Amino acid sequence: MAKRKFHTRICDVLGIEYPVIQAGMGGFSDPPLVIAVSEAGGLGTLGAAVYEPDTLDAAIKEIRRGTSKPFAIDLLLPDSLKDMEGVSKEGLMKYIPDNYFEYLKELRKKFNVPDNYHSNRGGALWTSEGTKALVQVCLDNNVPVIAAGLGRLGWVMPECRSRGIKTIAIGANVKMALKHVEDKVDVIVAQGYDAGGHTGNIGTLAVVPQIVDAVKPIPVAAAGGIADGRGLVAALALGAEGVWCGSMFLLSPEATVTEGQRDRIIAATERDAVITKAISGKTLRQLRTPFTEVWDKGPMPPLGWPFHNLLTLDIVDYAYQHKDQKQYDEILVTPASQATRLLNRRRSAKKIIDDMIEEAARVLEEDLASKVQLR
Ligand SMILES: Cc1cc2nc3c(=O)[nH]c(=O)nc-3n(C[C@H](O)[C@H](O)[C@H](O)COP(=O)(O)O)c2cc1C
Repeated sequence: MAKRKFHTRICDVLGIEYPVIQAGMGGFSDPPLVIAVSEAGGLGTLGAAVYEPDTLDAAIKEIRRGTSKPFAIDLLLPDSLKDMEGVSKEGLMKYIPDNYFEYLKELRKKFNVPDNYHSNRGGALWTSEGTKALVQVCLDNNVPVIAAGLGRLGWVMPECRSRGIKTIAIGANVKMALKHVEDKVDVIVAQGYDAGGHTGNIGTLAVVPQIVDAVKPIPVAAAGGIADGRGLVAALALGAEGVWCGSMFLLSPEATVTEGQRDRIIAATERDAVITKAISGKTLRQLRTPFTEVWDKGPMPPLGWPFHNLLTLDIVDYAYQHKDQKQYDEILVTPASQATRLLNRRRSAKKIIDDMIEEAARVLEEDLASKVQLR
């Protein structure tokens, strides 16, 4: 069968075949998923949140060995980095009040994390120097696209422009999207509350057209609960020219996800993809776990970013390192969107994209025309 054409302006801007961008998912979208998505005609995106400069450099080289097509690296660039110049990960920990460490002891006991375990993760995610080093690795490798999953790209833009690197930034409201206009990024993602991961508080249906109107003529990719061809068509109807999808890819074999997580994603219903501050201190939509339940019902208000994330790091990383044991697998962080019941099929990344495009084309050509009488 001839390949179906499904082309928008975002395809031209990013050099891809289909207007489907696989969203950056730190710890979930590593080279195998990025390669599979880009090879399938979408834009694969590596979630760099769990990488250090050396491992990011190796991952970019691995992606390049796997595909010659465009791909993106998703970085977290919060404004707070400015205030953290010269502060190390250990230095940041000093800002966490003692009573939080006391409470952490209780939690460690409850979730069987030994007192003497300390995560050896480097500081790239939280420190200003670490983040700058990750950016530099992307620039040195001349990656095709840099995305900012959090924060702004302004200070990186001159380097990106001079190297021909395309840029994507996310807005959960018009105010944030207008900052990306000021930065002159190439594509703006308008993301709704429905999304998996860190979210804003406006629903996808409401936020996408408002951002489209505000940022014209910059092309917009819609995000938040979009998980099939109907979602892609709806995004186009709202004025977007593509989609940025994370949760949709979690059940693909190329995503970095345990079998236990896959089973829980398939079993999830409307009750399960909750907003919690238990892991990062910022509103994050993920499947509820015994850990989120305990934190959310517990006595301590969350700390801000990045302190809360640093506080819970030992529990999160110990669980990850022991995920072959059920008790730890069950507390793994599994961000997922509100489209829980659409996330129920194990398919390759290529099949997910092909199905989305086929369905979107059918909805456009047949379903809508048969549903609406215009005369
Ligand atoms: C499992 C998972 C992990 C995520 N990790 C990150 C991350 O590390 N950095 C980031 O900017 N966004 C992250 N996100 C958010 C996605 O980039 C994207 O904005 C979101 O998935 C879009 O909504 P959807 O899940 O409804 O498709 C994550 C989302 C998911 C589902």
